[in-house]
Amino acid sequence: MSDWNANQYLKFEDERTRPPRDLIAQIPLARAGRVFDLGCGPGNSTELLVARYPDAEVIGLDSSPDMLRQARERLPQCTFVQADLTGWTPPAGTDLLFANASFQWLPDHEAVLRRMLQALAPGGVLAVQMPDNVDEPALTLMSAVAAHGPWAGNPALAAAARLPLPRPEAYYDLLKPLSARLDIWRTVYMHVMEGHGAIVEWFKGSALRPFLDALDPAMRADFLAAYLAQIEQHYGTRHDGRVLLPFPRVFLVAVR
Ligand SMILES: C[S@@+](CC[C@H](N)C(=O)[O-])C[C@H]1O[C@@H](n2cnc3c(N)ncnc32)[C@H](O)[C@@H]1O
Repeated sequence: MSDWNANQYLKFEDERTRPPRDLIAQIPLARAGRVFDLGCGPGNSTELLVARYPDAEVIGLDSSPDMLRQARERLPQCTFVQADLTGWTPPAGTDLLFANASFQWLPDHEAVLRRMLQALAPGGVLAVQMPDNVDEPALTLMSAVAAHGPWAGNPALAAAARLPLPRPEAYYDLLKPLSARLDIWRTVYMHVMEGHGAIVEWFKGSALRPFLDALDPAMRADFLAAYLAQIEQHYGTRHDGRVLLPFPRVFLVAVR
């Protein structure tokens, strides 16, 4: 997949940074010595961790050069590391592993979650938030548009949709045997979008990326126009011209 685009992602920084705020509020650690922000992106979640744990060594980790470039500019006092989470294990002495909106991109993320939690010493915390939205129209419409049109039959498009997350109960069975305490919740945010085009812009920074990567540049504009037409049909306009984007997310806070 092509590199992430930090500027596109940050077009909705306020909305995208609310879930990590809500996640941090539930972390039962008064102090931390070493904190990792896994899939730190442009540093928006890292900044929250620095504010919550001002005395900690806060390290951001990401596989995207563009995201890391922005994160380093934003927080020159922090260390940022380029690495792939699928093969990464936290070093000894880690108090908190924080991952906002990154684990849903990993193949077999359940195995990675278990490995990370296992690597923590007793009292260490793994705190994770993942979008749980693959059944929302905004996501199912990507596949519907991909299935009809001049691009239909492109195998990369057929493989572009993210898989659904396991149910919260499955995370309980997966992580509770390794946890002294486990807190799981699921929330539907109602993001207020300026219009239907804003929904398209939002997902150009995340779930649309694998679809757009699969198309040659000449077809991308037509694909996006077809997607926008579908979004207009499926999301109503509110009294003030804005559009609500329901966005379910699942949260996990595990204490080793
Ligand atoms: C949706 S952004 C989240 C950014 C930030 N944590 C936030 O709270 O908004 C997901 C990030 O996960 C990173 N990512 C995806 N797969 C990864 C992997 N296998 N290893 C490391 N980082 C990964 C992406 O590069 C991207 O920066």
